[in-house]
Amino acid sequence: MAVKAYDLTGRTAFVTGAASGIGRASALLLAEAGATVHCADRDARKLHETAALIKAAGGEAHAYELDVADKEQIDRAVAQAAAAATTGTGTGTGTGTGRLDIMAAIAGIMHSSPVLETREKDLDRVLDINFKGVLYACQAAARAMIEAGTGGSIITMASGAVDTGGPGLLCYGASKAAVVQLTKTLATEVGPHAIRVNAVAPGWIRTPMTERHDSHAQAHTEEVMTRMSPLGRVGEPDDIAHAVLHLAADASSFTTGQILRPNGGVAMPW
Ligand code: NAI
Repeated sequence: MAVKAYDLTGRTAFVTGAASGIGRASALLLAEAGATVHCADRDARKLHETAALIKAAGGEAHAYELDVADKEQIDRAVAQAAAAATTGTGTGTGTGTGRLDIMAAIAGIMHSSPVLETREKDLDRVLDINFKGVLYACQAAARAMIEAGTGGSIITMASGAVDTGGPGLLCYGASKAAVVQLTKTLATEVGPHAIRVNAVAPGWIRTPMTERHDSHAQAHTEEVMTRMSPLGRVGEPDDIAHAVLHLAADASSFTTGQILRPNGGVAMPW
């Protein structure tokens, strides 16, 4: 029997980074749970592939080719997604005609360089995509949710990098630490509108992002992470998609301002 608190029938979700890895797995799972999923990514080919996979499984999907670091593009796409939906099954009290129930701001890039070799342009690029891209998506989503008065759930993608230091992690870790601060701050500001905001901080997940590292370094990191995990393995995109589903659904209705850490137990902060 399906659990009602995980049923997203009638809900509208917007997922950035939906063309690949964690974003694609999350878009597919939210659709499987019943949501209409608006998929956004800059990789047009793989983006349309995700939308086609959702439709082939009987779900409803729309695709937006965009750069999350471009505020205007995000604003336009989120407004379009919200306008396409109607109110009815949310957690708030509004009666507007547009609605957005779920934002999963997942798009991001990896960058690794030692502190002493880090160039300003690398830092800017990583912050533009990983932090400002998430900020713009959160702003657009929160505005749409407040306007509709239907409440909602915003999910950001942080990283296990916020729990540990590590050589080369300056730009990436700083961008993810900023995402955590954004998540907590926004949660306090939009809670009165029945909007929840939470971050997911995954451990090492096997995706095209981690596979892009040179294969020797990747094999080494996988080996280390596997050894560090009490579960004895690294993660798969579906492990994170299920965390996203939990935070998106009514099942987590009393959870806000939190960091959920599907990391195989590699780090166990208080
Ligand atoms: P991925 O590389 O498989 O997917 C990232 C997606 O984001 C791609 O489809 C890419 O085209 C899109 N994207 C990147 N920059 C964009 C931009 N400016 N505009 C629009 N789309 C853009 O990577 P993965 O592993 O699925 O990562 C997803 C998120 O999870 C990222 O935020 C990443 O930092 C985070 N994460 C990943 C971990 C891992 O071990 N794979 C661990 C912790 C966090």
